[in-house]
Amino acid sequence: MTSLTLRRPDDWHVHLRDGAALAAVLPFTAAQFGRAIVMPNLSVPITTTALAEGYRSRIRAALPKGAHFEPLMTLYLTDSTTAQEIDRAKAAGFVHGVKLYPAGATTHSNAGVTDLGRLSGVFAAMESAGMPLLVHGESTAAGVDVFDREQVFLDQELAPLCTRFPGLKVVVEHITTAHAVDFVRGARAGIAGTITPQHLLHNRNALFTGGIRPHYYCLPILKRERDRQALLAAAISGNPRFFLGTDSAPHERGAKESACGCAGMFTAHAALELYAEAFESAAHLDRLEGFASHFGADFYALPRHADQVTLVKQNWTAPATYGFGAGRLVPYRAGENISWRLAKGAGP
Ligand code: NCD
Ligand code: ZN
Repeated sequence: MTSLTLRRPDDWHVHLRDGAALAAVLPFTAAQFGRAIVMPNLSVPITTTALAEGYRSRIRAALPKGAHFEPLMTLYLTDSTTAQEIDRAKAAGFVHGVKLYPAGATTHSNAGVTDLGRLSGVFAAMESAGMPLLVHGESTAAGVDVFDREQVFLDQELAPLCTRFPGLKVVVEHITTAHAVDFVRGARAGIAGTITPQHLLHNRNALFTGGIRPHYYCLPILKRERDRQALLAAAISGNPRFFLGTDSAPHERGAKESACGCAGMFTAHAALELYAEAFESAAHLDRLEGFASHFGADFYALPRHADQVTLVKQNWTAPATYGFGAGRLVPYRAGENISWRLAKGAGP
């Protein structure tokens, strides 16, 4: 196949940051996707509808001229989130999910939740409002191995929560293991999972190829080859519980190439192209449209887009860096070949 036309896709999990960083990365996402679920983990987390409204305005103001892109806002759940805030968010109309970061699990998660048991009123309000819970599913317990954190969280925390609130919509975000694939596939109705391009394309060996590779470090961390294969099988399966969420998470070069480097991979410059590579590797490009453009919209009860994008089979070399405010951003595949390219002029 040399070209592939599909309904315009959405990114159901992205980090757009703020200020100069936002201005640097937003055009990449807006060029490909019609909408994106925007993560709330700014240095001052987006914990209220009022903060989400301000952030949404800044995103819209940073859009390139002529772009048709809708940021779908999220709230950052804390120990002190109230049911009233959920009702406010629902009434506002532009908040599409509430993000659960276990405290300390990842970048800017210090304000996250320490005890799910204390938030019953909030989960009940979300359940009745039809407000999805977006989960960074990793245990932060000190004794849990970094490669087991997802499994432990799903089994010990998320499974009981899903039982206690049987009508709560839940997205297990950026799933990374065969265990999480089974969890989502076998769960009750209303539970879905997003999958990143890096977890479809790499196993954890990528972190250590010839030396330590900070640009392959993200959370949840890359897992074993059998996990990658299970994720790829889920993505191409046509099961609507699995859909696209890049988790593109830019950090300035110095923050990655450091003695204590940040977690996060920047993939937004080639997001759809990377998914196309993964689906092509499994001989199922025909399943990309459902995964990228249908199932997420259906889960979030939003209309599928009316327009289309076209990918062409064409080699190009990703730049070594992009501008990123006063610094530089090293993209995934920096200086390396990417074998698909979004056709120019595909916009609405
Ligand atoms: C994200 C970030 O940098 O904000 N990093 C990452 O590795 N994915 C946070 C997150 O989603 O865990
Ligand atoms: Zn993320």
